Amino acid sequence: MCGIVGYIGYRDAYPILIKGLHRLEYRGYDSAGVALLAGDHKMNIYKSKGKVSNLEESAASKDISGHIGIAHTRWATHGEPSTLNAHPHVSQNGRLALVHNGIIENYSNLKTFLEGKGFTFKSSTDTEVLVQLIQFIQDEYGKDLEGAVVSALRRVTGAYAIAVVDKENPDKIVVARKSSPLVVGIGEDHKEFFLASDALPIVEYTKQMVYLNDGEVALLKVGQKMEIHTLDNEDVDPKIKEVDVNLDTLEKGGYEHFMLKEIYDQPRCISDCIRGRLLADEKKIVLSAINQHRDRLLRASRFIIVACGTSWHAGLIGKQMIEQWAKIPVDVEYASEFRYRKPVIQPGDVVIAISQSGETADTLAAFELAKERGALCFGIVNVVGSSIARASDTGIYTHVGPEIGVASTKAFTGQVMVLTLFALALGHELGSISQMEFEKYVTELSLIPEKMKKVLEQDALTKDISRTLTYARNALYMGRGFNYPVALEGALKLKEISYIHAEGYPAAEMKHGPIALVDENMPVVFVATHHQLYKKILSNIQEVKARNGRIIAIVTEDDEAVKNIAEATIEIPATLPVVAPLLSVLPLQLIAYHVAVFKGLNVDQPRNLAKSVTVE
Ligand code: M6R
Repeated sequence: MCGIVGYIGYRDAYPILIKGLHRLEYRGYDSAGVALLAGDHKMNIYKSKGKVSNLEESAASKDISGHIGIAHTRWATHGEPSTLNAHPHVSQNGRLALVHNGIIENYSNLKTFLEGKGFTFKSSTDTEVLVQLIQFIQDEYGKDLEGAVVSALRRVTGAYAIAVVDKENPDKIVVARKSSPLVVGIGEDHKEFFLASDALPIVEYTKQMVYLNDGEVALLKVGQKMEIHTLDNEDVDPKIKEVDVNLDTLEKGGYEHFMLKEIYDQPRCISDCIRGRLLADEKKIVLSAINQHRDRLLRASRFIIVACGTSWHAGLIGKQMIEQWAKIPVDVEYASEFRYRKPVIQPGDVVIAISQSGETADTLAAFELAKERGALCFGIVNVVGSSIARASDTGIYTHVGPEIGVASTKAFTGQVMVLTLFALALGHELGSISQMEFEKYVTELSLIPEKMKKVLEQDALTKDISRTLTYARNALYMGRGFNYPVALEGALKLKEISYIHAEGYPAAEMKHGPIALVDENMPVVFVATHHQLYKKILSNIQEVKARNGRIIAIVTEDDEAVKNIAEATIEIPATLPVVAPLLSVLPLQLIAYHVAVFKGLNVDQPRNLAKSVTVE
């Protein structure tokens, strides 16, 4: 939530900042703003409500010169989306400008304190309090910018990634982080520095990145090595990481929306995900995480999966696979609930955090809690170098490339694939799955990218079916076994992108309540591919049919029975039931996408949402 970007160096800052904001817009799009330091101690600030493109329009005719600047794209927490509440926020004396991602939890007390000292506030944000506090400390104690930032942050509780500039010292940017991500890109010979909430906005300028850790404050000054201190004034050596991202993945590449591109990218992403891990010819799965922590993983008494949203759905599939193949019990928890309910974590427990962004505040906090309690922390993360990745003792990257659309699509299939590899490898190592069974799955998994392509080839049909859903006000999604989490995921996709109320249910639960909703206006999407409960779900479909529900079903290619009952069906190629979610979810992603497009909605940036939920 909220994206920040900054630049100091010899280039014009504005184009870098604007491009950076566009790349970070997935983190929030309630307002955008930029502060530019030009010569003669001049600071120009431009802000607009809404998207970055609004900011661009309003700044087009203005003075956008300057080699130092900070910028922000907002997902509102405190204060409605408005120009007044947009960042950067400026200190009362007009010297300091600050951008912030996070929440200052004690802002109200600090505000009362500052009001007592004669400060007035223009916005209703928590962030403005922080910039005024820094000014207060500068005025009161005559501290330099770094010193004042450190002192202010010592008085703050909450989460922050901040960047601060001072127009009286137009040669530096001070940045700091606690619980919200911040990465600094280092230019050649320290002639320039870039900063951002993640590496995407800056990777085209430099690959040398420093990920700030919690409680660190850094000074970025041209021609000088980056200095990092902790809030306790200890020096920290910047650890430079080489980060490489294929820049094509940051563009739409001819597709109308990132979401569509990312749906279509899945066969390639899944090939990337299994490369070097699934060795089909040798009938092997090689996961370095298992090699490194063999004992602890093989002797795990329980796995606890913590995640949110789509990642939680992937966790539900992972549970079934780990329990089936490795015979180790698995609990799947909403990270936001787990972290606050005094969970029992025992020696021998392994906690798996699943997260695309690696920055979800609740998942990170749940993971840190598990770490404090001595669990082995295993991360399944997409964004390399993210906070959850760095908090992991070990783990597996999904390697599906940057996901820009707010709706998770390729991240989900990447997570499910990683969980499949993990569960299979574990079961194989433990001897709880037969060699024949193991080999059968290894072969099948290697065929998944090609089978995904076959599902995507039916997009025209999926689009036609989606048209009929466009005017629905509600929808039910049903599945059983491995397809139940797929139903949950399909319903979430429809809700978040198309704003149609949708519920996912295990199909047998229908009779315990939801069936009361079924009438001739209710679309019911069944994920009814072949598996051991196929006959049972067939009966569930009949029950909906008997009540005139409009049935759309995802079926296996040779299916006849469901096809005879349903209003519309979409086929997936035959596969082993356990891995069917990797295919059956694709039509559901496409349905949500097409319905949203038919409704004229903003697919990549649905209302009220942000991709990276860095506040709890
Ligand atoms: O980055 P994460 O995987 O931790 O994000 C978790 C959820 O916020 C995310 O999956 C969300 O539910 C998606 N927008 C769903 O499409």
